[in-house]
Order: sequence, then C-alpha cells, then structure tokens
Amino acid sequence: MVQERIIQYLKSNKTFVSGQKLSRHLKISRAAVWKHVRDLRLAGYKIEAVPHRGYYLKSCPDKLLPEEIFAGLATERLGRTVYYYETISSTMDEAFRLAAQGSPEGTLVCAESQTRGRGRLGRTWISPKGKGLYTSLILRPDLSPLEVGWITFVAAIAVCETVREATGLKAAIKWPNDVLIGGRKVAGILTEMNAETDRVKFVIVGLGMNVNADKVHLPPRGTSLKMESGNKVSRICLLQNVLQKTEYWYGCLQARDFSPVIERWKALSITIGRRIRLSEHHRIIEGKAVDLSAEGGLVILNEDGDLITRMTGDVELI
Ligand code: BTN
Repeated sequence: MVQERIIQYLKSNKTFVSGQKLSRHLKISRAAVWKHVRDLRLAGYKIEAVPHRGYYLKSCPDKLLPEEIFAGLATERLGRTVYYYETISSTMDEAFRLAAQGSPEGTLVCAESQTRGRGRLGRTWISPKGKGLYTSLILRPDLSPLEVGWITFVAAIAVCETVREATGLKAAIKWPNDVLIGGRKVAGILTEMNAETDRVKFVIVGLGMNVNADKVHLPPRGTSLKMESGNKVSRICLLQNVLQKTEYWYGCLQARDFSPVIERWKALSITIGRRIRLSEHHRIIEGKAVDLSAEGGLVILNEDGDLITRMTGDVELI
C-alpha cells in the first residue's frame, strides 16, 4: 500500500521529489521512505536518488505488479486485491485455493509465466514469461449454475473491446470465448466454478492473452497484439481496461439485465451468420450458426434443416 502510494506520487510529480515531501505526504519517517524505495528498486523500478533533490522515477518495470495495476485502476471491486507470481503452475489453481479460503469477489491472481497453463477442452495454454496476460479472477455471482456461462461471454466482450481500443484492430469473438484477429487466436477465456446443485459458491474466470509474444512463442494458429499491430503493447493498461469493462458488463448480469450482454456479444461475434463445423466429443456437426440461445448455447441450422443448440464444443469457421 505504501509502495503503491510512493509510485503514484512520483508518477504524478514527473520531477525530483524530496524525501521530506514524501515522508510528509505518506506520514512515515524518511528512513522508512528510503527502505520502501530500496524494495521498489529490487522489484525493478528505476528510481534515481540525488542528495538535496530527492527521488525521481525514471522507469517502471514491465511487470504485472500490484502497485502498477492499482495505479490508475478505475474499478470498484475487480482487481482490488492482487496476488502476483513470477512463475506459477496455473493461476486457475491458485485462484481456486484462495476462493475456497474465502477471498473476496474481485480478487485477481496474475503471473508472469505458467508452467501448466490450461485451456478449454483439456488443452495447454502456452505462457511465455512476461509476454502475455495470464490471470484468474474470483467472482461470487448471484447467478444459478446454469447461468454462469454468461460470465464467459462478459469476459470475451471485455477482452474484445479492450483489444479493439488498444490496437485499433478488428478483433472479434468466436463462440464461445475465443478472441481472434484476422482468424488467428489472440486470447482465450476459461471459466471454472464451484457450485452446489442450485447455488454457485464462486467462479474463476481465467484469461490468457498473447500480448508481446513473437511467433516462436506461440502455437501455429495463434497470434499476438504485437505481431498484429507491429507495436509493443502495455500489459498493465490492457489488464486495467479488461477489469474495468468486465466490471461494467458483469454489473448487467448481476442486475439480471441479460439482453445488452447478448446484443453486445452478437455485435462482436464472427460466428453468428457463418457456416461452421462444431466438434463435440468426436462428433462433428456442420451447418450455419444462426443465434445464441437464452442460456448462451449456439443455435445451429444443421444439414437436415433442423435447429439444434449446443452448449459446448469447438467451432471452426468454414
Ligand atoms: C482457452 O482458450 O482454451 C482458454 C485459455 C485460458 C488460459 C488462461 S491463462 C490464465 C489462466 N490460467 C490457466 O491455467 N488458464 C487460464
């Protein structure tokens, strides 16, 4: 908390700030200021200290450190508690553990790399160090287990909108939750929950986004924001925006106002109206994706002219 305030103060001043001014602002001793500055340097902040002039923030580390996330975060609840890891097996497991211990809604687990990142349908999520967003968010929604699928849509909307704003590229959602640019996957969402028959205890929303990864880091059909835009993109800004937009759309779900979510998802989707091939437990269905059902399933007009709805599966656009 103190370190976060030091960074915020130094950022807002953009010039040297004396130790005395900082100690008055933070209501701590100058020796304590010095100790916090030392720890911030160890975490990767470049802070110059000049006698009689004070401290100057030269650069911030390209890391998802809590103090970086908090500085400028405009959410009320999401991302207000952050657990940060350099390396972890999977942020999903850690978020599950924290949620089971009672961590509040909005708690975020993020890591610079994962050794066993996982995706939908038992796949692996490749998580090269410092090149992407690998996060899991704890939610405690007032929804039935059958309605939890909507959270995945909300997260996909938030990610897609954020990517569009950050890069100007026409990102789109492939049902249910892949975010693509030019047909290549840039982000994926994995939603897992702990529920009783009719009551959700908690939901974990995992986000994997390829941000500054190069081709060598990624699976064949994957891409990154850097590859598509030609520029390095700030992971902190992306994360702050995803959290902000998730909070907004999640608010609609909590208010049981589902229709704006459905409309927004459809507007960002490249699945509806397209011919698709859906693989589901080794069964393949071909047809035209025509709509989203009230439960978030994909409504398909199949080859026999029947309307069928599928809640899971992997979609290929043909
Ligand atoms: C998918 O598209 O299949 C979903 C991918 C989700 C990957 C993220 S990375 C952070 C979180 N931790 C994991 O192990 N998985 C999710």
